[in-house]
Amino acid sequence: MSEAILEVNEVTKTFGGLVAVNAVTMHIEKRRIFAVIGPNGAGKTTFFNLVTGIYKPDRGSIVFDGVDITGRDPAVIAGMGMARTFQNIRLFGSMSALENVMVARHVHTRTSYADALLHTPRYHREERKARDRAMELLAYMQLDHRAQELAKNLPYGEQRRLEIARALALEPKLLLLDEPAAGMNPQETEDLQRRIVGIRDDLGITIVLIEHDMKLVMSISERIAVLDYGKKILEGTPEEVQNDPRVIEAYLGPGAAEGVQ
Ligand SMILES: Nc1ncnc2c1ncn2[C@@H]1O[C@H](COP(=O)(O)OP(=O)(O)O)[C@@H](O)[C@H]1O
Ligand SMILES: [Mg+2]
Repeated sequence: MSEAILEVNEVTKTFGGLVAVNAVTMHIEKRRIFAVIGPNGAGKTTFFNLVTGIYKPDRGSIVFDGVDITGRDPAVIAGMGMARTFQNIRLFGSMSALENVMVARHVHTRTSYADALLHTPRYHREERKARDRAMELLAYMQLDHRAQELAKNLPYGEQRRLEIARALALEPKLLLLDEPAAGMNPQETEDLQRRIVGIRDDLGITIVLIEHDMKLVMSISERIAVLDYGKKILEGTPEEVQNDPRVIEAYLGPGAAEGVQ
């Protein structure tokens, strides 16, 4: 069995009376494309918020690449090599595409505050390096022609790709994508699909994907976990998940599976 990069054990998160994530366990192996699916409100985004440290779990533990990160701060977890994109795009709208990627990159430059203030040779060197790498990442996401445009002026699909470029600038081991194909047309979705596989194959990054586009999910995921009302109701291969009546019922309601078989 290959090593897990993420081990989520019996994690629970409650908001008031609502159990958004209910004793969920997920073990995700390195270099996988792993999908988390489920109807709206199932707890998928909350699951990401728990893993990335935005929320602290009420119960359970989270181990990232062998280190217990339960309750740690998001910045610490990000620094350990976990990056994400958001269901509701979060870019700096009034900054250029290039600047959006460079902001993330600053985590990896060694310039001190004094270097930056005094514009030392080290500052210029690091800045150039960061800029070159950011341009590479923009090109990788097919956005190099947009480098100087303000993020807010990019079409929706390109904003989603820009968020991925920015996440990659953190040089993550694990990349969490929250509905990356939302708002994309079929052509853009197909390009994105190839790009996600490329990120795993070229860069060796493990990917966890929340997505409603079932064609995308079924084409590229090796394993799929299904959440419903905060609980993991099933985990398996695309074939296993596709043919499971519990999944059809989760999406379409009780009894729906009978008519579908
Ligand atoms: N910060 C919060 N405060 C209160 N309720 C929340 C909060 N975040 C999520 N929820 C609730 O938790 C449930 C799961 O939400 P979410 O994780 O966003 O679902 P999904 O991403 O699967 O659509 C929903 O009922 C949602 O309203
Ligand atoms: Mg969500």
